[in-house]
Order: sequence, then C-alpha cells, then structure tokens
Amino acid sequence: MQLLKLIATAVALIAGVEAAANFFPVDAVGNIAAVRDDLGKGATHIYYQARNGSIVRLCTSTSFIQDGPQNCGSTEVVPANEVMYGTPITAATLWTSSGGFDGNHVYYYSPDGILSEYINNIQAPAHGPSCTQCVTNQRFGVVNGSVALYSFADTKTPGMQLRVGFESVGSPGTITEATFNSNTKKWSLSVLPN
Ligand SMILES: *[C@@H]1O[C@H](CO)[C@@H](O)[C@H](O)[C@H]1NC(C)=O
Ligand SMILES: *[C@@H]1O[C@H](CO)[C@@H](O)[C@H](O)[C@H]1NC(C)=O
Repeated sequence: MQLLKLIATAVALIAGVEAAANFFPVDAVGNIAAVRDDLGKGATHIYYQARNGSIVRLCTSTSFIQDGPQNCGSTEVVPANEVMYGTPITAATLWTSSGGFDGNHVYYYSPDGILSEYINNIQAPAHGPSCTQCVTNQRFGVVNGSVALYSFADTKTPGMQLRVGFESVGSPGTITEATFNSNTKKWSLSVLPN
C-alpha cells in the first residue's frame, strides 16, 4: 500500500498534478451534479449515481482546495429501483425571498424513462411517485436512450421557479422544459419555440 502510494505520488508529480495524500473514494457510473451550499463558504453538495445504481449525496464543508472534508456520510438519497442505470443527473438550488435555503432539487430518469426529482429539504417522501411535490408525479416521459438533461432556478422571471430541460416523448427532436410555477405550484411543459 505504502509503495503504491509512493508510486502514485511519483506519477502525479511527473504529471504536474497535486497528489492526494488521502481522499474520499467515489465510484460514479455517470455524470456528477454539484451545487454550492451558500450556508458555508465553499461548501458543496454533490450528487451522483453509485455503482449499485442508487443516487448518493456527498457534502463538503468548504472547497476541495481548502481541504473541506466530505462531511455528510455517503448518503443514499434515492434507491436504485427508482433510478435508470446510466441516468444523467442535474441539480438546482432554491432560495426563499428572504435568503433562506429552500432545497436542492435533483433531476434524473427513472428506470421506465420518467423525468424524476429528489428534493433534499422536505420530509419523506422526497423522491419517487409518492412525492407529491416532485415532478416525478407528473409522469413526463423521456425519449428512450436520451441522456440530455439540464436544470436551473429561475427566480427573476415572475411566477417561475425551476426549469428542467430534457427530450420529451411528446416532442422528440428538440428540447422541452418542465417549468414549476411558484404561484400555481404546478408543473407544465413547453417546447423550445422556433
Ligand atoms: C450503494 O452505494 C452507496 C455508495 O457506496 C452506498 O452509500 C449505499 O449504501 C449503497 N446502497 C445499498 C443499497 O447498498
Ligand atoms: C429503448 O431502446 C432499447 C434499445 O434500442 C430497447 O432495447 C428498449 O426496449 C427500448 N425501451 C423502450 C421502453 O422502448
């Protein structure tokens, strides 16, 4: 082990990168979404699909370069049976008008191709078909094989809150946005206009 570490250090030095003396192991099968946690300086929430298929959350108390340790366990937030293997993952953070944290909203695909959401600041169920607040409940279908997905919080546009872009079965060949309206508290779909 010690020898391997020395070799790794030597290789890293040759490559001109910083060799990590000690690191938190992560085995992600697809892309990784991260959002800043503005409650701490440089604090981060990271979401990825683990080898066993579940979505896992990691947190750091500050940035990597500031040596912020992984400090929220390696928490499974969505079980594998609710997540498509190889799903894209994206995340957006909401803030209340008074500046309070209003949740991380994480988007991914279910095994049967439904646009799905996990919300990290609400009481259970915070994911799956029984999460009434989650977009999952709307059963918006994703084009088979598509791994296109984005999300962001849009709180400057009146009525809007969350916008999630994906390739919808209703309109293949373009981008459809699922939009959460903060006044009606409802999701709706709209296609990228020409
Ligand atoms: C899946 O893997 C993650 C990351 O290693 C772990 O936290 C989680 O407990 C595992 N889930 C199951 C059901 O074993
Ligand atoms: C999706 O596409 C794959 C590969 O083409 C196919 O095997 C699978 O049956 C399709 N799934 C659905 C729900 O159409």
